[in-house]
Amino acid sequence: MTIKNICCIGAGYVGGPTMAVIAQKNPHIKVTIVDINAARIAAWNDADLTKLPVYEPGLAAIVGATRGKNLFFSTDIDQAIDAADMIFISVNTPTKTYGKGKGQAADLKYIELCARNIAKVATTDKIVVEKSTLPVRTAEAIKSILHNTGNGINFHILSNPEFLAEGTAVDDLLQPDRVLIGGENEAAINSLATVYASWVPQARILKTNLWSSELSKLTANAFLAQRVSSINAISELCELTGANVDEVAKAIGTDSRIGPKFLKASVGFGGSCFQKDILNLVYIARSYNLHEVANYWEQVIIMNDHQKRRFADRLIKTLYNTVSGKKIAVLGWAFKKDTNDTRESAAIYVTDHLLNEQAHIAVHDPKVPAEKVYTDLNYLNTRTEAENQNNVAVYTNAYDAVKDAHAIAIMTEWDAFKTLDWEAVYSTMQKPAFIFDGRNILDKHTMEAIGFEYHAIGQ
Ligand code: NAD
Ligand code: UGA
Repeated sequence: MTIKNICCIGAGYVGGPTMAVIAQKNPHIKVTIVDINAARIAAWNDADLTKLPVYEPGLAAIVGATRGKNLFFSTDIDQAIDAADMIFISVNTPTKTYGKGKGQAADLKYIELCARNIAKVATTDKIVVEKSTLPVRTAEAIKSILHNTGNGINFHILSNPEFLAEGTAVDDLLQPDRVLIGGENEAAINSLATVYASWVPQARILKTNLWSSELSKLTANAFLAQRVSSINAISELCELTGANVDEVAKAIGTDSRIGPKFLKASVGFGGSCFQKDILNLVYIARSYNLHEVANYWEQVIIMNDHQKRRFADRLIKTLYNTVSGKKIAVLGWAFKKDTNDTRESAAIYVTDHLLNEQAHIAVHDPKVPAEKVYTDLNYLNTRTEAENQNNVAVYTNAYDAVKDAHAIAIMTEWDAFKTLDWEAVYSTMQKPAFIFDGRNILDKHTMEAIGFEYHAIGQ
């Protein structure tokens, strides 16, 4: 089937950038992204491209070039579903916060709602593509809903997980290591492959069965996160032995079997997916009674929680065992640089811990607004909203955040932090002036020459 009309349900960090690139590379296909969140759709339609709801380098230019031509953002979900030949489901699949599997299993209610909605409104045959990250065998449930409508309409289900990373989404989409398509119907698989073949070399379009595709996505994230936890585990040993974790990472990363990527020790990984996807993998393994498998992967999360906690504890210990009443500047709130996404950011958990110890926190992030910082902290429910408001200040300027601070905690590796006037920063801080570099972005010798007491990860 030649695809002329695509609908994507979910205008988030995946749906927005992915569909923008598909539209740019396929001017003959009309792409409509729909969402129940009207404010989000309005932001995608904002004439001011700096106000798009997702910040990604290069994204605004692509949206600017395609929006209104063959890329559309709408809240009219039913109309877009019915008009489409191919429907991507790109809604959120968070960890369940209630009932069976609470805290581990993926909450599939949004996926099911999409499937039911498609079943209800479709009047022509459709290819339905799982773009969201889903537990292995979810397609079975979607098939069951779509194949039992009794209305004679044919649905083909494909799995096409997304591997983009935030902050580099546009580059990742334009030059993917691979595109993965899992399915049972060859014609449907080829229809989707043709959409990608507009810019992705055929050799990079992998075709598998449905279950391999679904499981590969969880597995890829588990392997990536495992590398971060592995190097973070070594960072603790480095701190006690005089080894330097960045030197160790370089030394092992030059082994072509290990490779250099994803070996940057940090305050702990964040982001909406690593934790949720590994917890989901753990849940799935346990549900098949594979306890050793589950325990093995769970350790990646345990290590990550330990790393975040350890960072905060080290800061407190170094500040003479108390941060009560002290001002701590938190530089960076996003879970990594070049994104405005804060989901599961290590900054949230480190700040929460410091607030428990009665610190006064001053936050600065180049892309995260103040309301988001408070929402993230309030969501934890550790203290009242008024207490968070009173003890946390958010600054749009880094120099205001660090003024009179006892210590700086670098939580995100924003390039702008590397080029701050650190001499000026030093001059306005309380002495001794401490830096806790959770991303190892600054040079220890330079910082010490200025006068800072500098603490990095794994050094
Ligand atoms: P997101 O929360 O940014 O966006 C999801 C959107 O879906 C929201 O705007 C929400 O309003 C909308 N939505 C939910 N239910 C809906 C419904 N029934 N009808 C219409 N709209 C609905 O999430 P995201 O970060 O884009 O992630 C989406 C999926 O992609 C998840 O499964 C995630 O694991 C996966 N994924 C995310 C990334 C990433 O970098 N964020 C990368 C790869 C895969
Ligand atoms: C990750 C994967 O890299 C993507 O392939 C995947 O599509 C996506 O999850 C998803 O499924 O959501 P993302 O979370 O956006 O992408 O960003 P990453 O670059 O993977 O970083 C995740 C976290 O690990 C960040 O907090 C980052 O700072 C941290 N990290 C990463 C390290 O601490 N050290 C590293 O060496 C690499």
